[in-house]
Amino acid sequence: MSKVLAALAVSVDGYITGRDPGAGRGLGDGGMLFNWYFDGDTPSQVFDGFKLSAPSARVFDALAGRVGAIVAGRNTYEDSEHFGGGSPHPRARLVVLSHRPVPEITDRQTLVTTGIQDAIAAAREAAGGKDVGLMGGGVVTEALKAGLVDEVILHQVPILLGGGRPFFQALPEHVRLRLVEAVPAPGVTHLHYEVER
Ligand SMILES: NC(=O)c1ccc[n+]([C@@H]2O[C@H](COP(=O)([O-])OP(=O)(O)OC[C@H]3O[C@@H](n4cnc5c(N)ncnc54)[C@H](OP(=O)(O)O)[C@@H]3O)[C@@H](O)[C@H]2O)c1
Repeated sequence: MSKVLAALAVSVDGYITGRDPGAGRGLGDGGMLFNWYFDGDTPSQVFDGFKLSAPSARVFDALAGRVGAIVAGRNTYEDSEHFGGGSPHPRARLVVLSHRPVPEITDRQTLVTTGIQDAIAAAREAAGGKDVGLMGGGVVTEALKAGLVDEVILHQVPILLGGGRPFFQALPEHVRLRLVEAVPAPGVTHLHYEVER
C-alpha cells in the first residue's frame, strides 16, 4: 500500500504561513518559510528552478520523488491561485478537497467533496503505486484524525512567526511519532517522523 506523507515548511512556533496569506499574497508575511528552496547551489532533480543546499536537496528530492499525487485543501488551492490549473508537483496529479463546488477545477485536477478518505483514495488511484502527499494544515489534521497519515515531515525554519495558519489543528487524542531522521541544513532543519500505530 502506498504511504501518505505530510511534508510542510513550518516555523518553530508551528505555522505553515505567516499572517494574511492568500491569492496574490502567497504565505503572507511568512514567505521566508520557502527561502531554503532557493538559497543553495544544488539543483533539485524533481522541481525545475529549485536550488537547495546539498543536505536539503537530498532530503527534498527523496521525498518529492516518492510522491505520485497530492491532496490539497481548498484554502491551499485558493491561496495558491489554483496552481495555474495544474499541480504544485511536476509529476503528481492534484486532488482538491472541499465541501463545496470548485468552478475553476480543470481536467488536470480532481475535486473531491465527500471527505478525506475519498480524497486519499482518489489520490492513491492517481498515484499509480507511488505515495500521496498532503498540503494544508486542515487536510493534514483531517487525515491524522482518520488515521491515514504514515509520515510527518517538518521542514523547520528557525523563526517564530507569531501568527498564521497552523500545521496541526486540534486532535481528539494523542498521535505518537517516531523520529526517523533529523537533518540540519542551512536555513532549515528537516525532521522526519513516522506515525506509530
Ligand atoms: N508551508 C508549507 O509548506 C505549506 C504547504 C501547503 C500549504 N501551505 C499554506 O497553508 C494554507 C492553507 O492551510 P489551511 O490549514 O488553512 O487549509 P487547507 O488544509 O489547505 O484547506 C482547508 C479546507 O479544505 C477543505 N476541507 C478540509 N477537510 C475537509 C473534509 N474532510 N471534507 C471536505 N473539505 C475539507 C475545507 O474547505 P471548504 O470547507 O472551504 O470547502 C477546509 O476549509 C495556504 O495558505 C497554503 O498556501 C503551506
